[in-house]
Amino acid sequence: MAKSIDVSDLNIYYGDFLAVEGVSMTIPARSVTALIGPSGCGKSTFLRSLNRMHEVIPGARVDGKVVIDGQELYAPEVDPVEVRRQIGMVFQRPNPFPTMSIYENVLAGSRLNAKKLKKHAADEIVEKSLRGANLWEEVKDRLDKPGAGLSGGQQQRLCIARAIAVEPQVLLMDEPCSALDPISTSAIEDLIHDLKSDYTIVIVTHNMQQAARVSEDTAFFNLAGAGKPGRLVEMNATRKIFSNPDEPSTEAYISGRFG
Ligand SMILES: Nc1ncnc2c1ncn2[C@@H]1O[C@H](COP(=O)(O)OP(=O)(O)O)[C@@H](O)[C@H]1O
Ligand SMILES: [Mg+2]
Repeated sequence: MAKSIDVSDLNIYYGDFLAVEGVSMTIPARSVTALIGPSGCGKSTFLRSLNRMHEVIPGARVDGKVVIDGQELYAPEVDPVEVRRQIGMVFQRPNPFPTMSIYENVLAGSRLNAKKLKKHAADEIVEKSLRGANLWEEVKDRLDKPGAGLSGGQQQRLCIARAIAVEPQVLLMDEPCSALDPISTSAIEDLIHDLKSDYTIVIVTHNMQQAARVSEDTAFFNLAGAGKPGRLVEMNATRKIFSNPDEPSTEAYISGRFG
């Protein structure tokens, strides 16, 4: 199920504005890769280019290559809608459909994929996904209640359940804990740890300790200056990035001297 991602010479534009320049990296399968760097350096932009969400913005485009398990993501025959279904995304603010029940929230993506989902199959997907997201025990007796009634941390796990319900190959997370309290953050981090045996996970985080705790590899992005595009400065094993990085600007960032 999990796939590795090969990015080469990727440039990402908003109209004429080159937001991210010349990224090449290999993101290993069944592993967690953290993206770190100062605000505005293009972490979210880069993340969205990995499931073709970037292009939903008018004028936005990329050049270069993204290859997921041998398949070129931007090849003309590839359907971007299909890609977005295959590559799940979890955002900064939990965004369950507020009036939809917990049960229907989990199934939202699956219902798009399969028009007629039998009750039995649907029940199975819901339980499996909620168990996978470490939420089942907390909500199994109130599956028909609205998703909005859950706490922030539970809502984020519900969004993760919704994302994994379609059995994606890759899970992209953009600061998934930044709106959560420490206990919920810890629950999400435990969950990320469990999920990586099945998924390729890419997570943007502003929290260095979090990057150090959850990821195998870390990519540091930076801006050469105001108005300049973001670039990948260094990607290395997380252990190395946080102890003995190759680049002085990585060292400066992780030790809090800027950013
Ligand atoms: N929808 C957009 N339209 C135009 N420019 C954008 C858009 N979203 C982000 N940008 C620009 O792209 C650059 C990278 O932003 P972003 O990817 O959000 O950075 P980060 O996630 O690292 O904070 C910034 O200069 C930002 O202003
Ligand atoms: Mg961002």
